[in-house]
Amino acid sequence: MTRHFLRDDHLSAVQQREVLELAAKLKQNRFAHRPLAGPQSVALVFDKPSTRTRVSFSVGIAELGGFPLIMDAVGNQLARGESVADTTRVLSRQCSAIVWRTFDQSRLIEAAAHSTVPVINALSDSFHPCQVLADLFTVSEHFGEFSGRTFTFLGDAASNMASSYALALAIAGAHTRFCAPVGYQPDPAVLTQARSLAAATNGSVSLISDPQEAVRNADVLATDSWISMGQEGMREQRLADFAGYQLTTALVGRAAPHAVVLHCLPAHRGEEITAQVLDGPRSLIWNQAENRLHVQKALLSWALERG
Ligand code: CP
Repeated sequence: MTRHFLRDDHLSAVQQREVLELAAKLKQNRFAHRPLAGPQSVALVFDKPSTRTRVSFSVGIAELGGFPLIMDAVGNQLARGESVADTTRVLSRQCSAIVWRTFDQSRLIEAAAHSTVPVINALSDSFHPCQVLADLFTVSEHFGEFSGRTFTFLGDAASNMASSYALALAIAGAHTRFCAPVGYQPDPAVLTQARSLAAATNGSVSLISDPQEAVRNADVLATDSWISMGQEGMREQRLADFAGYQLTTALVGRAAPHAVVLHCLPAHRGEEITAQVLDGPRSLIWNQAENRLHVQKALLSWALERG
């Protein structure tokens, strides 16, 4: 069976744990595991810009013994209208896996339907599952495990990051709180799915409108840019809508004394998070960015070896 990872709930609780355990081993010994030796090629298709995803997948594929074949939006025939299906047919005849950052989730579903090799979601408008897997790893690395921890996300709870947190953290058995202004609440279908998953892991998913209340005694605080790719034209409206949801030192002070802070980056200091918090002692943000490498190496290895 070809294993695709298009959204967070494509890994069960057992599989999620297997990938995170493998990531810990690969982080200890970066260059010993070489399932892509040959080198086998992995296509990295970017319909949107990227720094961390591009770097971590490229470095990771090289460390696994493979060759990262980067295909940017400008410079391939997708940009001139060739279909996802035809592109995927060509890539899966020559590459061992396809990692794709794109717009609509339907493009990834179409790619997976026409691929004979694993397709991995490197961010879509709906989900960012590789990022959240790295976030799970980062928190587990710090606290020992994520299960039973309280996690608060402040900001756009309708975003791809929030949807991925809802699913992945429910699978991990965490207590997730979303704190967002009116008009930025979680996708109802994702919320229903997350609550169903959380019921099986003794986790929970709640919506708390007051930021002061939402962060109270939380173990992990996270936020993301208020203006994501493609939303630049709504900048002034969104800055006004999210006023009061900034992650500040005062807000962090209401969380548990041992609380840590996550941000998937790129950050906008002074908007969704202050510089003091982002660069402060509670921040795991740079570990989080590095851990993309170790977790995605584990995910690729798992998909290739267990598929
Ligand atoms: N967090 C993240 O995915 O960063 P990039 O957009 O730079 O890849």
